[in-house]
Amino acid sequence: MHQKKKPYLLTLNQKYRKYILKTLLKNYKQYISGQNLSKELKLTRTSIWKYIKNLRDEGYIIESCTKLGYRLISIPDLIIPHEIEENQNTKYLGKKVYHFKVVDSTNNIAQDLAKNGAPHGTLIIAETQNKGKGRYSRIWISPKGGLWFSIILKPNFSPDQASRITLVAAISVAQAIKSSFELDVSIKWPNDIYFKQKKVSGILTEMNAEIDKINFLIIGIGINVNNKLPLPILKTSLSLKNILKRKIDRTLLLKNILSQLEKNIEKLENTGFSYFLDEALKLCFILNKRIKVIIPNEIIIGKCKDIDENGNLILIEDNGNIRTIISGDIILLRNK
Ligand code: BTN
Repeated sequence: MHQKKKPYLLTLNQKYRKYILKTLLKNYKQYISGQNLSKELKLTRTSIWKYIKNLRDEGYIIESCTKLGYRLISIPDLIIPHEIEENQNTKYLGKKVYHFKVVDSTNNIAQDLAKNGAPHGTLIIAETQNKGKGRYSRIWISPKGGLWFSIILKPNFSPDQASRITLVAAISVAQAIKSSFELDVSIKWPNDIYFKQKKVSGILTEMNAEIDKINFLIIGIGINVNNKLPLPILKTSLSLKNILKRKIDRTLLLKNILSQLEKNIEKLENTGFSYFLDEALKLCFILNKRIKVIIPNEIIIGKCKDIDENGNLILIEDNGNIRTIISGDIILLRNK
């Protein structure tokens, strides 16, 4: 059966848009000639105007003057995909970027693209999601101004190593936020990033695998950056803008996260998990705290004692039983 091609699988004319935007950015606040653009791209002046109109619709303020051409006056708070693709600090992460104004969930788009052969490291970003997914089938509210993205990975790990990669992703996000803003963020095992006991970021990993082989992993990362915090999470979450009292350059933050994550994946492949275990133990704020772990069909209460070499949490129940937690929802309790 002939299937209609999904619009995000078409890359038609992206290279013209990219060229025009790059030229405008390079000559920020200075006029560039429409005639030169049309010569360079072998497009008509009317086509160039259509690309300019499209950029304006996206929120770029571009002035035009019959004699002088076009000049960029201000950029919207948008991710700039070509800046990510040209990041010198990564070899494969974010070399192919899909950027959308609105999607249901970047994880869903990533699944679709991965099944259609998208390469290792493909990045999918959305300005907003209308069906953002959180862990345990929760809704992840994703308004304008946040960083909502998914990465397709096709690693040479066996499926039982997938939770290590999730922990490595959380460590990478924490390290990138720490180094970008000198912020003392920590991790709530397995993969939430917190600042002063309030959630800043969450990660949802989804896997497509056979018994002994990962076909692909989708690492979905949500970070409250410049967005307003929706009412349901107002008391329990923070945005980076709230914390730092200024607007954040999301493109730069995303580039830093991708660089850190790629460096860490390489380290994991070459030297194993021990460095990450040390980092996780340093960053994890629930260690030695009393916690409640909610797993399907069971609630376990006890003291969080350790993280093991597979990234699992070790807990001592009140009756002395030692439990290994592979995955669960953690609630911090008051120490007895
Ligand atoms: C959680 O803490 O419950 C995980 C939240 C993960 C949210 C991100 S936003 C980008 C990606 N797309 C989704 O639908 N979810 C993840």
